[in-house]
Amino acid sequence: MNFEEERKERLERIEKLLCEYLPEEEGLQKRIMEAINYSVLAGGKRLRPMLMLESYQLFGGKEKVIEPFMAAIEMIHTYSLIHDDLPAMDNDLYRRGRKTTHAVYGEAMAILAGDGLLNLAYETAAKAFLFKPGDETVERAFSILLSKAGIYGMVGGQTVDVLAEKERLRLTKEQLLYIHANKTAALIQAPLMIGAVLAGADTKAVETMEKIGYNVGIAFQIRDDILDVTGTLEELGKPIGSDKEQGKETYITLFGMEAARKDEEKLSQEAISKLGEIGAKETFLAELIGSLINRRK
Ligand code: IPE
Ligand code: IPE
Ligand code: MG
Ligand code: MG
Ligand code: MG
Repeated sequence: MNFEEERKERLERIEKLLCEYLPEEEGLQKRIMEAINYSVLAGGKRLRPMLMLESYQLFGGKEKVIEPFMAAIEMIHTYSLIHDDLPAMDNDLYRRGRKTTHAVYGEAMAILAGDGLLNLAYETAAKAFLFKPGDETVERAFSILLSKAGIYGMVGGQTVDVLAEKERLRLTKEQLLYIHANKTAALIQAPLMIGAVLAGADTKAVETMEKIGYNVGIAFQIRDDILDVTGTLEELGKPIGSDKEQGKETYITLFGMEAARKDEEKLSQEAISKLGEIGAKETFLAELIGSLINRRK
């Protein structure tokens, strides 16, 4: 199988898995389930669960205990997108090739769908204990998931991103990297670390995965910023020019397009060579990270 076929195979497994953990659309509160399913099942690259599974397998994991965590990370990611698109934040009308959640269900339902998804993510991850009651690696994985999603992770990054934009701050490199590291890299570090932890990898290996996640995450956001300038709505499934419209400082406004491209490449290559150090250069994971450079969506 070539890389694209392998990616598709994994994507299908993840889509099936998500369906298993998503709610039935029923009850008086049915609308919230509809909004949640609309948002999660809109497609997307499913990068985070894919990274988690690869990391788990890299360290010898073979059990189903990884699955609730794979679903949970995609739920948290999707909630972050629903809220990111709200009028109070980036005010965007398209996501994953369809109207954003607030555009279809209204702002109140979009806020609640995000809240509901975050909670559902934790309810889902907790199901890992059904496979391994009282297991210490599940506890550790849980704590990584919680902290990387919260105020010392994604929410922290989004906070500074929004403050910088609303207060029209001129960012230093350090501040921009803080934003990228938290709003984006934290949710890429989490799956890489959780996969390793659940497979029983040692602390040093988990730290290596955290470093790799940092590089991949910063590179990923640089590319996202590049695509906001050079992409198309058709390819991306979300509007371009959103950053400029919001007056947002990005890697490109700060350092220029050339430097952005160079740094994206450099950070990704560093991540791949770190994988090489743990004997994982010839893996799907390394290819996946490589494929993110120059991606068009
Ligand atoms: C978009 O994430 C938000 C960022 C962190 C840049 P993705 O580019 O992974 O979005 P989907 O999941 O494929 O839609
Ligand atoms: C969003 O960054 C990161 C999170 C949602 C946490 P962006 O605002 O650049 O993401 P897009 O471009 O809307 O996907
Ligand atoms: Mg944003
Ligand atoms: Mg946005
Ligand atoms: Mg963006």
